[in-house]
Amino acid sequence: MKVLVTGGAGYIGSHTTLCLLQEGHDVIVLDNLMNSSSESLRRVEEISGRTVDFREVDLLDADAVDAVFAEGAVDAVVHFAGLKAVGESVERPLAYYRNNVVGTLNLVDSMEKAGVRRLVFSSSATVYGASEHVPLIEKSPMDATNPYGRTKEQIEDILTDLGAADPSWSIALLRYFNPVGAHESGRIGEDPRGVPNNLLPFVAQVAVGRRDKVMVFGNDYPTPDGTGVRDYIHVMDLAAGHLAALRFLARATGTFRWNLGTGRGSSVLEVIEAFSTAAGRQIPYEFTERRPGDAAVSYADASAALAELGWSARRGLAEMCTDHWRWQQANPYGYQHEPSF
Ligand code: NAD
Ligand code: WQD
Repeated sequence: MKVLVTGGAGYIGSHTTLCLLQEGHDVIVLDNLMNSSSESLRRVEEISGRTVDFREVDLLDADAVDAVFAEGAVDAVVHFAGLKAVGESVERPLAYYRNNVVGTLNLVDSMEKAGVRRLVFSSSATVYGASEHVPLIEKSPMDATNPYGRTKEQIEDILTDLGAADPSWSIALLRYFNPVGAHESGRIGEDPRGVPNNLLPFVAQVAVGRRDKVMVFGNDYPTPDGTGVRDYIHVMDLAAGHLAALRFLARATGTFRWNLGTGRGSSVLEVIEAFSTAAGRQIPYEFTERRPGDAAVSYADASAALAELGWSARRGLAEMCTDHWRWQQANPYGYQHEPSF
């Protein structure tokens, strides 16, 4: 199959591109590198021994997107490209709506023109908002609490309407829980720019000495140790979920939504402990105020993905931390050689 991967130079996209190549698919990556480096793709080529057809294109440039599809047969699209920082989305909502929603509209317009109607979209557990009816099932109402989450909701709605209007589309809306970890080689991984927003990259940067200590946002939640509980999922399990969705879409039309999580929650303190074990050093932390908008507990009911896709996450928290640490230790500044604080 020839698969076009938007956002393929990014964290989840690079791991999925690697899995696609390793399964024998041909991959075109479309990315404007606004939050990534083409070095990730060079390393994907190094690990796989195969070539990535990379196009530095912005999804907001509709003509350039059309031109990629006009070149030849694409069988399916996996659409990762988007902005993803919750806090930044509150400060720059228009940039988020434009990039994520308009970018997706341009993509599906080009797909329609080219007759490509198979699409896997990166949605997020963030669409469930602060719902505490765990485990979260796909039928739980969408109720995002920030502009980033609302772009995901809006895109889900747009794609659902598209699938209803034209039943020849095959669309998978994948709601990821908390992706962490790295490929076992330690050659590709998450490379956040500036101060990481998410827990695992922050913990990893403390472990490697780039930051002093982890600030734990709240220790008075109604959870066993008082800290927030999340469903962390290994990025390689997540990548495998995309391949399972593509296999499903090859024999079904319609719009489908699946949670991709492990179904298990871990607290912030459990993560710090597991990472300390993986890194062989105690990671310092300090309790601070709750972060506004955070739910106490979030984890998936991932049974639909198991029943319908035959997919489930295999790797546990210890392996997530070991792999994340291998990447962080070998690449203390990610894909760059110079520190960026
Ligand atoms: P990432 O930032 O590493 O990757 C996104 C990629 O998209 C980057 O390479 C960026 O340069 C590219 N991009 C952004 N806007 C673009 C545009 N207009 N045109 C072309 N390329 C563009 O992020 P990630 O963690 O790999 O996330 C991938 C997708 O998964 C995103 O849509 C994100 O919202 C979603 N998601 C991520 C998480 C998470 O915690 N990482 C959780 C749930 C959902
Ligand atoms: C995890 C836990 C924090 C940082 C976010 C997005 C979501 C999705 C995944 C894209 C929480 C605590 C964190 C820190 C801490 N992304 N924490 N100190 O908030 O579950 O989800 O990323 O779709 O949309 O909202 O992930 O990693 O930020 O936080 O104590 O420095 O760690 O309070 O309990 P979150 P996270």
